[in-house]
Amino acid sequence: MREVSHTARRIQRPAPRAGALRLAQRRLQRANLYYGHGTAEALDDAAALLAHALLLRRPLEERDLAGPWSKAAALRFEALLQRRIRERIPAVYLTRRCWYAGLPLYIDERVLIPRSAIAELIERRFAPWVDPAAVRQIADLGTGSGCIALAAALAFPRARVDAVDIDAGALAVARINRQALGLARRVRLVKSDFFQALAGRRYDIIVSNPPYVGAAEYAGLPPEYAHEPEVALRSGPDGMQAVRKLLAGALRHLTPRGVLVVEVGNTETTVQREFPQLPFVWLEFERGGGGVFLLSAEQLRAAGLGKRSRGK
Ligand SMILES: C[S@@+](CC[C@H](N)C(=O)[O-])C[C@H]1O[C@@H](n2cnc3c(N)ncnc32)[C@H](O)[C@@H]1O
Repeated sequence: MREVSHTARRIQRPAPRAGALRLAQRRLQRANLYYGHGTAEALDDAAALLAHALLLRRPLEERDLAGPWSKAAALRFEALLQRRIRERIPAVYLTRRCWYAGLPLYIDERVLIPRSAIAELIERRFAPWVDPAAVRQIADLGTGSGCIALAAALAFPRARVDAVDIDAGALAVARINRQALGLARRVRLVKSDFFQALAGRRYDIIVSNPPYVGAAEYAGLPPEYAHEPEVALRSGPDGMQAVRKLLAGALRHLTPRGVLVVEVGNTETTVQREFPQLPFVWLEFERGGGGVFLLSAEQLRAAGLGKRSRGK
């Protein structure tokens, strides 16, 4: 009899790790947190924090839930959950790790948490907009962690990539990731205000996820955003400062068949209003996200963009 009831209890009770995950999910849901920094909902955050507490260096998998639940892991998990809830720190800054276009990256508060939909375009090797075999030079302006530059370098093994940022802290993080991925020979880190230090250089692809948040929008962002560098988010009073610089300078740095790809998020309407002469192609993504435009060098030239710009 005793044996039977023991078995029944074992069957009813979930594995302790699975139970901890569900409890954490409910706590996060009740705390009304904001998601969107590399994770989409409470369960994603709970899973990322649990993987970290279990000292896994990869995303949590179903099979991990069956393993033993040590006191040390439980304490680590609790501490992570408390920081996520009380300090509103995005999960990626707590785990210091994320995956972008399939690449493992080191991330800390010196850089924006990678989440740009441009990952999907890189995975498609910018099809159908470029001939992948002809791509030799790429620039990623506002590289942050280096996520876009490094993913692009791997997608185009014959290309050299300039990964540009104005912020020394961001470049230090990009250096860590470049080193870990063994890309130091093909990815150059450049400290520059967008095109300023790139005089005379031309690229087949110029890609950028620049800051594009205006002053009013910035003031109303959820607390999680305050952990990201302001320089990575804010761009003048209307969010347009960086985009203006990119559009003004792109033509003189593109090869004749080159393309410019820029994420502008919800500044899309303002961009269209300010540049009605430009035939923006707004890209679509299967995994969600938007506000990313593409323009060819030819289109920029035809619209007279960048003719009068000097170096920037
Ligand atoms: C939105 S974050 C994007 C980071 C990364 N590319 C990504 O997608 O996760 C923008 C980046 O642009 C950089 N930045 C801001 N102003 C800049 C400027 N004038 N010139 C170059 N980089 C700039 C910031 O330091 C930040 O790393």
